[in-house]
Amino acid sequence: MGMFDLVIVNARVVSASDIVTCCIGVKNGKIRTLVDSFGDEEIQSARVIDAQGAYVMPGGIDAHVHLCQDLKTGPHGLGGACSDNFETGSKSAAAGGTTTVITFATQTRAEEDKSLLDVIKAYSARAEATGSYVDYGFHIIIVRNDKDVLQKEMPILRKEWGISSCKLFLTYETQRLTDSQLLDVMYEAKQNSMTTMIHAENGDMIQWLTDKLESKGMVAPYYHALSRPPLVEGEATNRAIALAQLIQNPILFVHVGSALGAKNVRRAQTIGLPVYAETCPRYFHLTWEDLKRFHSPTCFENSKMICSPPPPPDTSDQEELFVGLENGTFTIYSSDHCPFRYDHPHGKPSGVLEDPKSMEGEQYCEGDELRSLLARKEGAFRLIPNGIPGVETRLPLLYTGALAAGRITPQKFVELTSTNPAKLYGLYPQKGTIMPGSDADLVIWYPDDSFKPFNLANSMLHHNVDYTPYEGMKFVNWPRYTILRGKVIWMEGEVQGKLRDGQYVKRGPSQLVRGVSKTTQDPRRVASWLYE
Ligand code: URP
Ligand code: ZN
Ligand code: ZN
Ligand code: ZN
Repeated sequence: MGMFDLVIVNARVVSASDIVTCCIGVKNGKIRTLVDSFGDEEIQSARVIDAQGAYVMPGGIDAHVHLCQDLKTGPHGLGGACSDNFETGSKSAAAGGTTTVITFATQTRAEEDKSLLDVIKAYSARAEATGSYVDYGFHIIIVRNDKDVLQKEMPILRKEWGISSCKLFLTYETQRLTDSQLLDVMYEAKQNSMTTMIHAENGDMIQWLTDKLESKGMVAPYYHALSRPPLVEGEATNRAIALAQLIQNPILFVHVGSALGAKNVRRAQTIGLPVYAETCPRYFHLTWEDLKRFHSPTCFENSKMICSPPPPPDTSDQEELFVGLENGTFTIYSSDHCPFRYDHPHGKPSGVLEDPKSMEGEQYCEGDELRSLLARKEGAFRLIPNGIPGVETRLPLLYTGALAAGRITPQKFVELTSTNPAKLYGLYPQKGTIMPGSDADLVIWYPDDSFKPFNLANSMLHHNVDYTPYEGMKFVNWPRYTILRGKVIWMEGEVQGKLRDGQYVKRGPSQLVRGVSKTTQDPRRVASWLYE
């Protein structure tokens, strides 16, 4: 038996703090050593990869991915089934340099979904049914405040399933919690060292604006953005920060898309509150204009850009979001991969997308109301499921748009895409870093000067989605190798892994502990007596 199974030479190894040119030795799926060079004997039975001086980073950890989920994301609870399962979604992740995904198991308000454990077991069976190309863990979405269930099952989720994060909604009719319900769940989450992830949009504002827009006949996809101006996220972030401060619960805002939301997060961080934020590629590459980018503003094709929160109104907001990437307001950068197909759900030709018939069927939505709106051939944004794909393009977009553009350092890239997600969600240092003892999860890029920039086409991607919002965009690099626990699963444009390569990962509590200021713990200001 040789000393190493795999060695990578001529690597520019990037961590969240440093860049060092060295070689990596891998044994039994773990990083064993980082050294200047290897002797011939040491590597004689190992596979040798020459990184040719390119960046070698810890494999991407995408902490916000929807697979095998029936999403109820319309304000009225209408939604659609994700078109990616663990097979297609994880293959797409591997092809984009991601070695771990954290996906969502969701409770519903149906009686049979009362038990969080039952929800997790059923969801886990979906993953096991196909297997996965990359490692995977679960968050749990909680849509009710059943104290008995929370008290009995949260400890089991933590200890037996290694699930240390739950997502709570302030919008979507079938998911949103009232303030007191949010407090109930946050309180139980705190007792169990679970990180609460918050979808921060004011559901009442959205409903009210949607009704007003519809009364004026403004139902085209573009008006989705007008129904969710930045204030919608602004109000909800401030409210959730106040609720979390009251009971001193750490929170992570998912998919922050507005400069206003980012400012609120920053302010909370500045006074020492444990408030974290995630942002997503779409907020740096799309604006409101993209919701009317196709040949007419009412064209149904624009539906494919609908997500919540929507992209920012214009590029000036994007600039402010960039500042948040650079200055640490944003802790993590995830895809919020939410895959829907827009061709016919029953395999018939997709036809002309403006034709309402192409939207019929249970994949999208149901009800007479929908049909009458569709009859107007205007897309009816209220009824379009929210979400866009992007698990495969996440790292390459950040590389092209921020790293190669000189907006962030390679270390910041690693922090946002791997190290911080690992720390935030309790996977560090097993994952998120290239250190002796860590899993040998790696992404190796091309040397920048040898890569020929190309324009992306959806046909190059591996997801089960019939479009990408980034069609035609120029990319200046792409993962050359993706390595999962020492095994090459993606190499130079080819998937090399197998469906059963990915393993379920149990997670511990968050390891990102921010020093909390004394003022924010003052019992006259917050309810610290709750825990006495
Ligand atoms: O539009 C979005 N973000 N869809 C996915 C569901 C969610 O809220 O993350
Ligand atoms: Zn969300
Ligand atoms: Zn059209
Ligand atoms: Zn999401």
